[in-house]
Amino acid sequence: MAQKQDASNYTSERQMKIVVTGAGGMLGRALTPCLEKRRHEVIALPKEELDVTNFAEVRSTLQKVKPDLVIHSAAYTKVDQAESEPGLAYFINGYGTENLAVAAGDLDIPVLYVSSDYVFDGEQKQPYTTWDKTRPLSIYGKSKLAGEEAVQRHLNRFYIVRTSWLYGPHGSNFVDTITRMAGERKQLRVVSDQVGTPTCTLTLSEVIADLIVTNRWGVYHATDEGVTNWWEFAREIVKGKDVEVVPIETKDFPRPATRPKYSVLDKTTLISTIGRELTPWQDALQRYLALNVEGKKALSR
Ligand SMILES: NC(=O)c1ccc[n+]([C@@H]2O[C@H](COP(=O)([O-])OP(=O)(O)OC[C@H]3O[C@@H](n4cnc5c(N)ncnc54)[C@H](OP(=O)(O)O)[C@@H]3O)[C@@H](O)[C@H]2O)c1
Repeated sequence: MAQKQDASNYTSERQMKIVVTGAGGMLGRALTPCLEKRRHEVIALPKEELDVTNFAEVRSTLQKVKPDLVIHSAAYTKVDQAESEPGLAYFINGYGTENLAVAAGDLDIPVLYVSSDYVFDGEQKQPYTTWDKTRPLSIYGKSKLAGEEAVQRHLNRFYIVRTSWLYGPHGSNFVDTITRMAGERKQLRVVSDQVGTPTCTLTLSEVIADLIVTNRWGVYHATDEGVTNWWEFAREIVKGKDVEVVPIETKDFPRPATRPKYSVLDKTTLISTIGRELTPWQDALQRYLALNVEGKKALSR
């Protein structure tokens, strides 16, 4: 049976030198202090310091730093915009990831690639397992899958970590948008027919930190625990505030990219591997909402 573990008191037995790509992004900024707290040496590289689409730069950085692991959180993440600039999405998420995988493979450095629930088509009625068939509906999802395939093609030692509906300090995200809009309007309209799991970058970082010391390579699903839809999620965000959240259907809020209707991920493999349960999404959200500016700064870069 999985055991509970207090991640905040956790000291990693095996400290590593870890390169984080996309370190200026929402997840990258949460991952860096989390890994440092566990006494890993973190070389946090934002896009300005490592452009993954530049193979020579990727190779020379890895040759120079000689990390024990690369956590690849850099990505093109503009889901709707990707529909009108597919070349750029594939260039960063497909070709950029292939660059990293080839260079890391040559130097025998393992890679943790952060992927997405959008690799699935959302037609299932039960949580997607790691061995369920992928069929992305959007350019973004297809480009993330291209990254997964590159990692599997070029590396023997890799983790692919699919996550979903991310929010966290220092990133443009649904929680902050709804919180801001609740202060400006009396009524919000939010889609209720897309089902998934919100995930805080702070809890995801702790999960990734647990996973990387296992050396159990493979594909994992990592989200906070539970199932909801965007409407319920919004209601939880504004709980106690004087604002009405009205459920609408996806067809009433057309967007360029098609999202999966259902993208709940089965986390059984992850839970057995890291030996602890995951945080319910409502708890992670309340902890995030309770953070003030100083708290957010302390937990992210
Ligand atoms: N956000 C979500 O809801 C979500 C859900 C599932 C999975 N994911 C995955 O989780 C990971 C982290 O996402 P996030 O939410 O932290 O996204 P983010 O805030 O957009 O961070 C991605 C970072 O990558 C950088 N980047 C873009 N092109 C690059 C390049 N060529 N070389 C190096 N860095 C580059 C971006 O810089 P610029 O901003 O300056 O371009 C940004 O700082 C990504 O792999 C994403 O696909 C995200």
